[in-house]
Amino acid sequence: MAQPVVFVTRRIPEAGLAPIRVACQVRLWEGNLPAPREVVRCEIAGCDGLVCLLSDTIDADVIAAGDRLRVISQYAVGVDNIDLAAATARGIPVGHTPGVLTEATADLAFALLMAAARRLLPGYENVRAGEWHTWEPLGFLGADVWGATLGVVGLGRIGTAMARRGRGFGMRVLYYSRHRSHLEAELGLEYAALGELLERSDFVSLHVPLTPATDRLIDEAALRRMKPTAVLVNTARGAVVDTAALLRALREEWIAAAALDVTDPEPLPADHPLLEQPNCLVVPHIGSATVSTRERMARMTAENLLAGLQAQRLPYTVNPEVYHG
Ligand code: GLV
Ligand code: GLV
Repeated sequence: MAQPVVFVTRRIPEAGLAPIRVACQVRLWEGNLPAPREVVRCEIAGCDGLVCLLSDTIDADVIAAGDRLRVISQYAVGVDNIDLAAATARGIPVGHTPGVLTEATADLAFALLMAAARRLLPGYENVRAGEWHTWEPLGFLGADVWGATLGVVGLGRIGTAMARRGRGFGMRVLYYSRHRSHLEAELGLEYAALGELLERSDFVSLHVPLTPATDRLIDEAALRRMKPTAVLVNTARGAVVDTAALLRALREEWIAAAALDVTDPEPLPADHPLLEQPNCLVVPHIGSATVSTRERMARMTAENLLAGLQAQRLPYTVNPEVYHG
């Protein structure tokens, strides 16, 4: 029997590619930038499976071009780049990689929090510029992390891992989420409405998926509720924050700083005004970027893909409804 044909939109770790190659005929986009949408649309025609990234736009039109498509396996946990309704309408299961990147992403969120609190980047730039002349009694003064209040917005897996880190560092932790957590007492967390969380937190860290309900959740009104000394950390999705409002908040010092792993637009152009703000730290969407995390994600991506091609239930799917129809 002919092997199923699979389009893979970027090279992923061999831990995932190898098992796919054994079972499938693989078409791999070798570029160092995402395949243009038109290329994906053309390639997907005649493919049985698709492996894609969060930087691919898998909209209804692209899905419609996949006349034989039986499974979409995304190499990421977030799937806001995929038109799930269109996939579900076609009965196509969509796989993703939850769980395996939780701790790595929370580590990065906490690294951003610490870097912003203790002004690591301005310090490093000072040393590199040859301006470290003496011990500064009044220079580079940051904010205490110990004893400060961390507000976690979205208490899913990653938000919970961030809350644990906050507690471990001696922080008071507030959280806002759609549902009250059963871990509240065990972890020593306090539930707060979003407005109250914004008003009381010294650090606000975002951990919600991007959905119509969270699109620009952190808008001008939200930023104006934050303390002028507060730091905003975003490792979720750029569009959860209104970029224009954030720029004003940083320029006009409604808040003290932002530390971002994700931006809107993404990637952020080098001449974007956010990058001129000394109180804004940006890294290039590296939350899950550790060797072992990316290998686990690749394996999970392959498992989802191969299950879908064999008409088995995907181990990790975001639209299990396809199995009920
Ligand atoms: C990364 O942002 C992911 O969704 O896995
Ligand atoms: C993502 O894995 C989350 O639930 O936070």
